[in-house]
Amino acid sequence: MIKKCLFPVAGYGTRFLPATKSMPKEMLPVVNKPLVQYGVEEAIEAGMRNCALVTGRGKRAIADHFDISYELEHQISGTGKETYLNSIRDVLDQGVFTMVRQREMKGLGHAILTGEPLIGNEPFGVLLSDDLCLNDGAGVLAQMAELYNQFRCSIVAIQEVPVDEVHKYGVIAGESLKDGIYRVDEMVEKPDAADAPSNLAIIGRYILTPDIFDIIRDTPPGANGEVQLTDALQTQARKGCVMAYKFQGRRFDCGSVPGFVEATNFVYENYYGKD
Ligand code: UTP
Repeated sequence: MIKKCLFPVAGYGTRFLPATKSMPKEMLPVVNKPLVQYGVEEAIEAGMRNCALVTGRGKRAIADHFDISYELEHQISGTGKETYLNSIRDVLDQGVFTMVRQREMKGLGHAILTGEPLIGNEPFGVLLSDDLCLNDGAGVLAQMAELYNQFRCSIVAIQEVPVDEVHKYGVIAGESLKDGIYRVDEMVEKPDAADAPSNLAIIGRYILTPDIFDIIRDTPPGANGEVQLTDALQTQARKGCVMAYKFQGRRFDCGSVPGFVEATNFVYENYYGKD
């Protein structure tokens, strides 16, 4: 059973400036809930109650969100407004939150290595909360945790994207084992369309085995001068130790303004006021 999930939330969120000048991108609300809370709920649903947040300067609002607000509790206690706190109270009841700061934003691989002391020597989930994933059945991380029990190796979530968008993603190639499951033999970060091995793009959900930390330590900076997780995963893939999984559900790229607006409309129309 995988108990821990790492949340890299230290990035600058430049695509949302000026909104993200003094507010973390991960606190942007899709309707009335911050992106990072959707992510934490997905991890808890998958049994990963230990939530390890890799934060940075200017991200205190995230730590405060996963703590009690005594003043607020006192103010609305016993009033009709208490129900608005139900979802975050549930999260606080079930989750355990640990935090570490990434001092320099040197990329996703570096963020994950920064989280090593919170994870230790066990397999763990990674959830990028700017990829919002929604499914009426089991959430994406829960689907992947089940797959981990079968394969016992790292797993990346993938989706097919239009060829003219592959340059925004890590892209995989591999042998199809059964419907929607591949054994990965190649991964490339942000390839040109002409060089991309497929249109199967990695999205922000991973299960990683802990040997990834030593591999990241030995991985030099790659695309954009950042330490890329994809490059480290490529080392595991060469040993046949990475699976890719075409998940059930919808994914919204909430790191971009169009994806964020699409998610907002979708959640408002399909979920708001219905739970
Ligand atoms: P992104 O590249 O999507 O996030 O990283 P960003 O850098 O904040 O966004 P833009 O491009 O400037 O708009 C994916 C995830 O990895 C985290 C980000 O917070 C985001 O959740 N991240 C990225 C880190 O925690 N540390 C880093 O050094 C880089």
